Amino acid sequence: MHRSPSRLTESGKAFADDHPGSLGIAISEAVETAAQDPATKYALGSVLNHVLLHQTVIGQEAVLQLAKAGEDSVDLVVGCAGGGSNFAGLAFPFLREKLAGRLSPRVLAVEPSSCPTLTRGEYRYDFGDTAGLTPLMKMHTLGHDFVPSPIHAGGLRYHGMAPLVSHVVDQGLVEATALHQRECFEAAIEFARTQGVVPAPEASHALAQVRREALAAREAGTSPVIVVGLSGHGLLELGAYEAFLAGRLEDDPLSDDDLAEALRGVPAVG
Ligand SMILES: Cc1ncc(COP(=O)(O)O)c(C=O)c1O
Repeated sequence: MHRSPSRLTESGKAFADDHPGSLGIAISEAVETAAQDPATKYALGSVLNHVLLHQTVIGQEAVLQLAKAGEDSVDLVVGCAGGGSNFAGLAFPFLREKLAGRLSPRVLAVEPSSCPTLTRGEYRYDFGDTAGLTPLMKMHTLGHDFVPSPIHAGGLRYHGMAPLVSHVVDQGLVEATALHQRECFEAAIEFARTQGVVPAPEASHALAQVRREALAAREAGTSPVIVVGLSGHGLLELGAYEAFLAGRLEDDPLSDDDLAEALRGVPAVG
């Protein structure tokens, strides 16, 4: 196993040793390695539409579990979105139910304010990796050479978004919002204390948004049924929790200038 950017590929060597890396760079390194070795195959873990569909087992089970629990309505479905796979895996079966008129939830994707692909990116063709080795995909993008600040939700540090997730956001079927990491860690700690599960920093984005929604509902005197995706545990991320509790974590929103600069790298198509 090697950290990215590594010294083993041309895509990795293009960056300095202390570079914070990104999912886009790691994908370039993996594609480059696989392309040069006939015995090596590369399977992308997120972003591509078939990966999203594969993960819909999550939402299909959730729909059945709610029915079994006697819930005949769902008001809100929330997941974090990096490349889009856990979000779509949970949300798409609920969207199916919504489009068929059987359920009518709001569906909401949550991303980091420092990597706000759906909320501030442009919907256009771009590469899925930093070096431009993948085919072009129509998606929300911050620009394939955008390097997100090194927040702890590493799995959300991706410049693009799966084309199917981008499409349903573009169609208005799914809402998107962006949160800062300190609010997410606060919500994650509250979740760990009340539920006994330490969430992954990625999942904490969904939990923080759900906390907002639940508090607003309490204020309004309503009791919505909310489904939230807990995309992973945080037991390998205790250093991030330690940094948060020691007051060392910063919020690092993307500036308009940095966004405009990153978008300049998106290829002109058509
Ligand atoms: C725990 C966790 N949640 C969410 C994600 C985001 O990926 P995706 O948007 O494909 O679900 C990752 C990615 O590595 C992850 O590790």
